[in-house]
Amino acid sequence: MYRSHNCGELNASHISQEVTLAGWVQKTRNKGFLIWADLRDRYGITQLIFDEARTQKEVFELAATLGREFVIQVKGTVIERESKNPNMATGEIEILVKELTILNASQIPPFTIEDETDGGEDIRMKYRYLDIRRNPVKNSLLFRHKVAMEVRNYLSGQGFIEVETPVLIKSTPEGARDFVVPSRMNEGQFYALPQSPQTFKQLLMVGGMDKYFQIVKCFRDEDLRADRQPEFTQIDCEMAFVEQEDIIQIFEGLTRHLLKELKGIEVSAFPRMTYDEAMKKYGNDKPDIRFGMEFGELNEVAQHKDFGVFNSSELVVGIAVPGGAAYTRKEIDGLIDWVKRPQVGASGMVYVKCEEGGTYKSSVDKFYDQEDLKKWAEATGAKEGDLILVLSGDEFKTRTRLSALRMELATRLGLRKPEEFAPLWVVDFPLLEWDEETERFHAMHHPFTSPKPNDIPLLETEPAKVRANAYDLVLNGNEIGGGSIRIHDKATQQLMFKYLGFTEEQAKAQFGFLMDAFQYGAPPHGGLAFGFDRLVAILGGQETIRDFIAFPKNNSGRDVMIDAPSTIDDAQLKELSIKVNLA
Ligand code: AMO
Repeated sequence: MYRSHNCGELNASHISQEVTLAGWVQKTRNKGFLIWADLRDRYGITQLIFDEARTQKEVFELAATLGREFVIQVKGTVIERESKNPNMATGEIEILVKELTILNASQIPPFTIEDETDGGEDIRMKYRYLDIRRNPVKNSLLFRHKVAMEVRNYLSGQGFIEVETPVLIKSTPEGARDFVVPSRMNEGQFYALPQSPQTFKQLLMVGGMDKYFQIVKCFRDEDLRADRQPEFTQIDCEMAFVEQEDIIQIFEGLTRHLLKELKGIEVSAFPRMTYDEAMKKYGNDKPDIRFGMEFGELNEVAQHKDFGVFNSSELVVGIAVPGGAAYTRKEIDGLIDWVKRPQVGASGMVYVKCEEGGTYKSSVDKFYDQEDLKKWAEATGAKEGDLILVLSGDEFKTRTRLSALRMELATRLGLRKPEEFAPLWVVDFPLLEWDEETERFHAMHHPFTSPKPNDIPLLETEPAKVRANAYDLVLNGNEIGGGSIRIHDKATQQLMFKYLGFTEEQAKAQFGFLMDAFQYGAPPHGGLAFGFDRLVAILGGQETIRDFIAFPKNNSGRDVMIDAPSTIDDAQLKELSIKVNLA
């Protein structure tokens, strides 16, 4: 038996017991005649004491050789500590060691294995197995497990069954590039890794499975950000004989269950907002509604004066920054520089200070009098002491830029509180989205999403106006899930492929299997998928998903620990009939 107890469970009630513990040496302190060592495992830390007077000579001498991260086993007696540590679960006791076995020595670790480490990101990624020993990473993984358990319990309880779908498949378009895998047995042919199990879950509905879920890996070859990984996990769900409202109810229930069980927070019915409203009020289809700073449109009150910049703009729009009237000139210039960075892309910004006593001081005093500026304050909801910031230009870009500014200011002002949770459904997404690069419409969600029946005639005349039966679940300004009611008949699906620019042959070659299946009694169905990594990170009070993934990739999509991706040898290439030509 390696251990009778773990390193987190012994306390005063165990005093005088003989115990066996095993774990890693966190650190040692050697006073010459007394040696202490902190022994760590997944459950906690227990202090060991070696006393020259009470410990056998060989054991004492061996203890003096212990270094950080040695793996040891000790046998000894639980005794009361002289100086107790009330901040530690095991802080009342220590183990007077009688026997010590070094199970494995360790080199000096490249960074300290403590909550606050001296190791930078790169080195911690290279030695991720050491990083996992640290509490912040370990606790994130334990938390992830808890969330997964709650998801499985809840969905099972609602009659969902988990079905595995294949990983070696054919491309499913979810808007990113595919990762592909060459097939040795089928020369010159490739599998694609699933961007999501979308088509399979729909086929499970045709198969009568009714309520499906899967906690499943998905793969997307896209540029990485804090909330994106090339391989990530979804809670993928699908139901038959449902309408949008049924799906919203079930998955709002799941989210509410998670908030209650994991955070102890009770949330009433989630608010809902249309895509159009979200864009208008927040310039964003995943608004953070934990704070106000809603957009105020100023076209009516700011145009038709002598300020040419505004007059020639499609949209003039502002937000009120609480308490911002106190900002210095330098601070305001800093904000103007911030919106002019290429990542945001504004060409300038107008400001109005709403000063005590109801007077306004603006950067455009030349063009606007106090009465004008008062109207701006009304439109943006600015109060005395606030600062109004105004952008103008092309409608969509201006909204997006002001949204970036709104989020930045909220972060700086501490308004994005990690322990406050504000879920929101965004509904009525557009079905199609114009793509400048390819100069054609793309499905905004995916090509299997059904249009709102009343909007179908618009497909011929104003495709951009067609709304979809599609919805996103937003939590604290992050898209944590999205889904739709699907098309379930061949004719509509064919029509959709046509509008998306597929020839009949292309549609048949790529999705013939799905359209065939629709001819054999496909039930009405719909579903959604949560981004599991994102959900866990946000419930854990963070927005970077990397820390909640055991072995994540870096920003270049590399696993620096195992050094992947890597080249493969010529024999392997030949076997796969792949010629690499890196001329
Ligand atoms: P969608 O593409 O919206 O929908 O993906 C669902 C959710 O997955 C998360 N997500 C990601 N998380 C981490 N890294 C990524 N690269 C990444 N990409 C997406 C997001 C997102 O909301 N098949 C549809 C679902 C459906 O219609 O049922 C789908 O995959 O949180």
